[in-house]
Amino acid sequence: MLRLDKYLSDATSYSRREVRGLVKCKAVTVNGTVARDVDIKVDETQDTVCVNGTAVVYRKFIYLMLNKPQGYLSATEDDRDPVVTDLVPEELKHFAPFPVGRLDKDTEGLLLLTNDGQFDHELMSPRKNLYKRYYAELDKPAEKEDIALFAAGMEFKDFTAKPARLEIDPDDPQKVYVEISEGKYHQVKRMCEKVGKNVLFLKRVAIGPLQLDERLGCGQMRELTAAEMALLGW
Ligand code: URA
Repeated sequence: MLRLDKYLSDATSYSRREVRGLVKCKAVTVNGTVARDVDIKVDETQDTVCVNGTAVVYRKFIYLMLNKPQGYLSATEDDRDPVVTDLVPEELKHFAPFPVGRLDKDTEGLLLLTNDGQFDHELMSPRKNLYKRYYAELDKPAEKEDIALFAAGMEFKDFTAKPARLEIDPDDPQKVYVEISEGKYHQVKRMCEKVGKNVLFLKRVAIGPLQLDERLGCGQMRELTAAEMALLGW
């Protein structure tokens, strides 16, 4: 059970103050009865709350898939650069979503945003062991021997990368797919550099079984479907 003002400010873009105003104007009904006070209790699983005759769909959490463009930081605010939350549509901003993990400023592709701290924590947990799949374009052709070097894991001065998968495009060996189960700083770029190639372009295309929806243009986002949430075990 939730107070009516909390219920409506969670589920809509109305602030608690605005909800008070709506209730005063008799614009809010609960199960067909005009609500007289903002502190009445509402059952979010059973009660039907309407604002100006339109039923509100209650939800507290939001889960978004973004096709991140280059030039945006995976953050909620920054003094200099645009941040991915600038791309959240106005009507969803009140959920205050934040990015789940990070992509570099110049990396494109699949980035999830949520306001559900538990989802963020679980998805990022090493125990979950979710592979992240990246498409990369290199300055030199990848070689067959690189596959074994990725598969063996790699030693860096600050960490040891776990075994990773490298797939080389048979038609153009400068195009590769890399799958890593961790997300250390610049990991894909550093692993490619270790085998003597620079990454010129990087895009994340999947997180575990969840694929980037290629119909999303760069900078566009949409909510995850129930089927996609189930793929992530949520
Ligand atoms: N690896 C990188 O080098 N950059 C990213 O943005 C993600 C993985």
